[in-house]
Amino acid sequence: IRRIGVLTSGGDAPGMNACIRSVVLTAAAHQIEVIGFSHGYNGLIEGDYTKLLPYHVQHIIQLGGTILKSARCPALQTEEGAKAAAATLRQLQLDALLVIGGDGSFKGALAIAQHYKGQILGLPGTIDNDVDGTDATIGYATAIDTALDAIDKIRDTADAFERIFLVELMGRHSGFIALSAGIASGAEQIICPEFGTLEPGQLDTVIRPIQNAQVLKGKSSYIIVMAEHCYPGGSTTLAADITDAIGIECRACVLGHIQRGGSPVGADRILATKLGAYAVEQLLGGAHLMMAGEVNHQAGLYPLQASGERKKRIDPYLLRWQQQVAND
Ligand code: F6P
Repeated sequence: IRRIGVLTSGGDAPGMNACIRSVVLTAAAHQIEVIGFSHGYNGLIEGDYTKLLPYHVQHIIQLGGTILKSARCPALQTEEGAKAAAATLRQLQLDALLVIGGDGSFKGALAIAQHYKGQILGLPGTIDNDVDGTDATIGYATAIDTALDAIDKIRDTADAFERIFLVELMGRHSGFIALSAGIASGAEQIICPEFGTLEPGQLDTVIRPIQNAQVLKGKSSYIIVMAEHCYPGGSTTLAADITDAIGIECRACVLGHIQRGGSPVGADRILATKLGAYAVEQLLGGAHLMMAGEVNHQAGLYPLQASGERKKRIDPYLLRWQQQVAND
């Protein structure tokens, strides 16, 4: 292997820069050239790239976002897009491509593989943690801490006003961030897709625990952490519906993209460094169409998968515990 490409794709995640740095430093140690593509797959299709040398990745380990920029790339959903991306890889004589992103990005990688003979490996970079083959994705640990910091602050004002708050967190279609941040913040209730769907007019499961809680006696605050896409209209509508149903003021706070930003926590920097290095080494061993992940502290390869084939389960122990205490 003489030359490889790297790109960051989909929702950016804290630790992507640490991963790029690790790829570049490890490749340099093996005399491999690295080409970085800008704006995800768009840079690959449009031939927008730069050569990445170790000095380019100095002092980026602590930075959120991605120096390569990220994007979603609708063009790659067409065969022409995949062919154009593969053509750039051939033109630049790249022996391999590393894709740092979530499983939507891996779907793009699989499409390119139809037209490209080099090796392709994925690295799990997303705050959502909804990727099989790794205990945690790069960015997940930081997103939990960012959400926690916000929820702790909301607790202060909720307590002062003895209010009910709904805090809506990201996660796409899974509740990893909501469950983790909800548990760690001591939220009274957690709503996430893994608990089943919530329909307007059928809010019993949400309302009953509120009615049993101290907040009705004017003594406490009550925080409900909810994952996005769990209720039509989101947390703002749910807050209004709860207020209508029980006559107690309920406020909503949508945390949004703040969860994607910030300096990566130590765990993300270490995971990103380990997986970046491991991916480059595995390329040398001939790995192709796999994802580098970490399970039980051990780096390993897992077949590259596209959306819809997910098996990763949210922690059943914490789910059960949360359900038990919320309904008491
Ligand atoms: O996948 C990361 C993520 O932040 C999800 O949690 C969220 O659903 C989505 O991206 C938001 O995407 P966009 O930034 O394109 O609105």
